[in-house]
Amino acid sequence: METKGMIALITGASRGIGESIAIRLAAMGMQIVITGRDADKLEMLKDHIQKIAPKPHIIVADISAPDTPGRLIGETIQMFGGIDLLVNNAGYAISKSLEETDYHEWDHSMAVNARAPFFICKEAIPYLRESACATIINISSVVGRLGYVHQAAYAASKHALMGFSKVLAKEVQPLGIRVHTIAPGGVATDMVKTMRADIDESQLIQPEEIADIVEFFLRHRGNAMIDNIDVRRANGTPFA
Ligand SMILES: NC(=O)c1ccc[n+]([C@@H]2O[C@H](COP(=O)([O-])OP(=O)(O)OC[C@H]3O[C@@H](n4cnc5c(N)ncnc54)[C@H](OP(=O)(O)O)[C@@H]3O)[C@@H](O)[C@H]2O)c1
Repeated sequence: METKGMIALITGASRGIGESIAIRLAAMGMQIVITGRDADKLEMLKDHIQKIAPKPHIIVADISAPDTPGRLIGETIQMFGGIDLLVNNAGYAISKSLEETDYHEWDHSMAVNARAPFFICKEAIPYLRESACATIINISSVVGRLGYVHQAAYAASKHALMGFSKVLAKEVQPLGIRVHTIAPGGVATDMVKTMRADIDESQLIQPEEIADIVEFFLRHRGNAMIDNIDVRRANGTPFA
């Protein structure tokens, strides 16, 4: 599929997987909106991207705030007049046993990883239905399906993301909107340093490899619909 000129919003674009996806989409000729809380990092990414592609639009926002989903989509429409691709990538994770996890950590995990993507999708649908190549990509995790010790709040929030994504994929299929999830294991970003410091860095998936999958979804819009891609480390334990 031709991707040049598509309009994309990527959450959590200030670093890690989101930054790699943003760079890839810009290189594919898209007009992109990048968002996160760290204004300096977003400005650095904008400087990098505008050397190779159209200037991205920055929105500095905390995705856990209830008014952020409406603001992200509203500003995207105001800036570019539509939206073709939404990548819900921003994520929050803590490594704590269930007994140690407090109310704030539970609520924040759910707000960032499940509630925000849910309502960003809801805000985007009226505009995505006008697009000929409408796509939503939700970045989940291996713990959207499995349970790892000390990841109860994170796993619960990613299971919630997977759950609503399955329903959404069917609800918006008649509107021509495709919904995909990507569920990676350890990727070489800041997050994995706090969650899985035990993994040898040389064995981590690279963020660019997740961007490869995003690109695949967009370039291959045929009759085969891929709901979810599980991505595990090539050198990880075969028992997980
Ligand atoms: N790394 C892994 O091993 C791994 C594995 C499976 C799934 N994932 C998932 O992949 C996605 C990206 O993670 P990553 O590894 O790239 O993590 P990361 O390096 O920690 O980046 C997280 C991103 O989310 C943004 N973010 C976090 N809280 C936010 C908030 N309250 N409001 C707005 N933005 C917020 C951060 O931006 P600011 O700091 O600028 O706010 C940052 O851009 C997440 O959904 C994560 O759960 C990661």
